[in-house]
Amino acid sequence: MILIDGKKTSQDIKNEIAARVAEIKKEGGKPPHLAAILVGNDGASQTYVGAKVKSCHEIGFESTLIRLEETVSEEELLRVVEEVNENSEIDGLIVQLPLPKHISVEKVTNKIKPEKDVDGFTPANVGRMTLNWPAYVAATPYGIVELLKRYEIETSGKHCVVIGRSHIVGSPMSILMARNDNPGNATVTLTHSRTQNLKELTRSADILIVAIGKPEFVTEDMVKEGAVVIDVGIHRIEDSSKKSGFRLIGDVKFDEVSKKASAITPVPGGVGPMTIASLLYNTLQAAEKKIY
Ligand code: GUN
Repeated sequence: MILIDGKKTSQDIKNEIAARVAEIKKEGGKPPHLAAILVGNDGASQTYVGAKVKSCHEIGFESTLIRLEETVSEEELLRVVEEVNENSEIDGLIVQLPLPKHISVEKVTNKIKPEKDVDGFTPANVGRMTLNWPAYVAATPYGIVELLKRYEIETSGKHCVVIGRSHIVGSPMSILMARNDNPGNATVTLTHSRTQNLKELTRSADILIVAIGKPEFVTEDMVKEGAVVIDVGIHRIEDSSKKSGFRLIGDVKFDEVSKKASAITPVPGGVGPMTIASLLYNTLQAAEKKIY
């Protein structure tokens, strides 16, 4: 069984990006600059944005964190996005989700200039990805593609089952796996809360990608012997035996599923670290004008 090490792979990618940044600086260029907008005080969002900013500094990027009150108006947020759009010093912009209920995610996403949309959430980039044109691809699915590539996992002609159809993970993942590319060329089944006979489908998966957001949802009986299993979930579970008082688990029951899988991502240390590496890579591409 191959344990797919996202921590090591993401560090490799960060080292590659840092080397390129050092080159850019040596050539007299300015380092890539990522701006992040964080609205409100959601604990998980603060942690994620904090990790993104920290990673920027580790690899020599500039970063700007723009914090806005939970009560900020939609109009004001749109104005801030526009300001970043027009700021030629900034290469990439992310607006951390979720946003407060009084703000339209669609309006805000659509305001981000596609050329700076390093999260790959705008209709322009989703469309370009679907067409297999140069595009910013959403960080989590992009990270998974990169893991499959670097671990040389054959996807062509395989049956790939994706559980979960979110705009951020499941839906783009299904498109990436089906398109004519490597990794890709899989026969894809996208499953969700209305899917019937889920177990029948997952049991026929050569590659199973789980992004359902339910702790240890996938059990051993749902997985085919020799399958490749990618676990996108991350959940904090209280555990008094740990010094921190908690441990992290995924959407897959790792202990039993890992005995059947030919390759599997752990939680933590699998898909999670790859997400940030992808965002940084997209930001480098933005700075070097590689997509647009
Ligand atoms: N919230 C959860 N995941 C993400 C992400 O990848 N980008 C942004 N902006 N918000 C998120």
